[in-house]
Amino acid sequence: MKPLSNSHKQLKGTLEVPGDKSISHRAIMLGALAQGETKVYNFLHSEDSMSTILAFQRLGVDIDKNNNTVTIYGKGVQGLSQPKDSVNMGNSGTTVRLISGILAALPFNTKLVGDQSLSHRPMDRIIEPLTEMGASIESSGGTLPMLIRGRPLTPIRYRLPVDSAQVKSAIMLAGLLTEGITTVLEQNTTRDHTERMLPIFGVEVNRNDQGIQLEGRQNLASSTIHVPGDVSSASFWVAGATITPGSHVTIKNVGLNPTRLGFINVLKRMGAQINTEVKRYEGDEPIGNISASYTERLTPTPLQKHEIATLVDEVPLLALVATQANGQMKMKHLEELRYKESDRIKTTVNTLKQFGATIIETEDGMIIEGKQELHGAQVDSYGDHRIAMMASIASFITTSKVTIKDTECIRISYPRFFEDLASITI
Ligand code: S3P
Repeated sequence: MKPLSNSHKQLKGTLEVPGDKSISHRAIMLGALAQGETKVYNFLHSEDSMSTILAFQRLGVDIDKNNNTVTIYGKGVQGLSQPKDSVNMGNSGTTVRLISGILAALPFNTKLVGDQSLSHRPMDRIIEPLTEMGASIESSGGTLPMLIRGRPLTPIRYRLPVDSAQVKSAIMLAGLLTEGITTVLEQNTTRDHTERMLPIFGVEVNRNDQGIQLEGRQNLASSTIHVPGDVSSASFWVAGATITPGSHVTIKNVGLNPTRLGFINVLKRMGAQINTEVKRYEGDEPIGNISASYTERLTPTPLQKHEIATLVDEVPLLALVATQANGQMKMKHLEELRYKESDRIKTTVNTLKQFGATIIETEDGMIIEGKQELHGAQVDSYGDHRIAMMASIASFITTSKVTIKDTECIRISYPRFFEDLASITI
């Protein structure tokens, strides 16, 4: 139980957030496939990113972690070998979906398992295209556990039926280990960290109207990755500052990749006072600062289908912000939210309802009335890190105390969340 009494307090100050989760996962994976020593700086120290390190260690790759610096002693694709036992993916959807693309093309068998939440999440979205490439994947009902019998694959040209960077990346990684040209076509742009990072390891990737294309069996050269701050973690402070009177925060050295900025763009469209400034590039990733100030008048705005993937992890926060906008906000096209760490349409609606919001769940989203005064309540995180953190931010605008059951799950993506929260609460 985490009690939070933040009514009438403000968020003020400057901070940095931990390294980007998506980039941290990919740095380990590509470093493990490369030949030689890869260093990863500002690696996200969290349970999800540790699932990826542990998985590759189980596959025979030597990886050292010293605080937030990780060294991967890659031996190329040959450096990976059959694990003695099943490999645990923990809670991490990115780990399981991306690693499956790699394992499907390697000459050994691997059984993948996960925690209760992950074991309910759909894997058919990767099983289907990988099977089309010739992969042998056994799973009952399209969920974990999953047995992958690695074998040589054939390249495909695949149009993504869902806007998912995890599915896109799984196919690209399988294609990377497969002779010939693999092509992935997106309906809407999803986060492109895999495409941006592969060239840093010496792999040529072509991106044009024909989709994302890569030629398989290119050797990866070791590299150095500096992970930017995670903009999804920064979003909690941006949301908090936007809705809490008197607040102003600046987040430094955060990733500003345009495929991740949907939440900030929607908030700006609502009239929020937010500034972003790219200061430099690390690899191919833009990095800079975000500042956000309290905005008294926020105007609701409809969400466009094409922008959902760019804000997919920020929807619980966006719903919280919408309770403070002047009027009704309809959020549609959110069906993918049902397949996250929890059914985030349901868990967001339930949580905000407990705070007194007028909000209804629809098949593909929610309808939120604003502007509403919220009151304190005891709420459940549903074991979902982003719900726990959204509820914590809500405590700044509730008239009384918020208590959250099970905030342990925050360790999945942002272990020092409450320390950072305390550092900017006045
Ligand atoms: C991720 C992609 C997103 C996101 C997840 C991380 C990634 O999932 O929700 O937190 O690192 O590729 P989908 O691409 O499956 O929507």
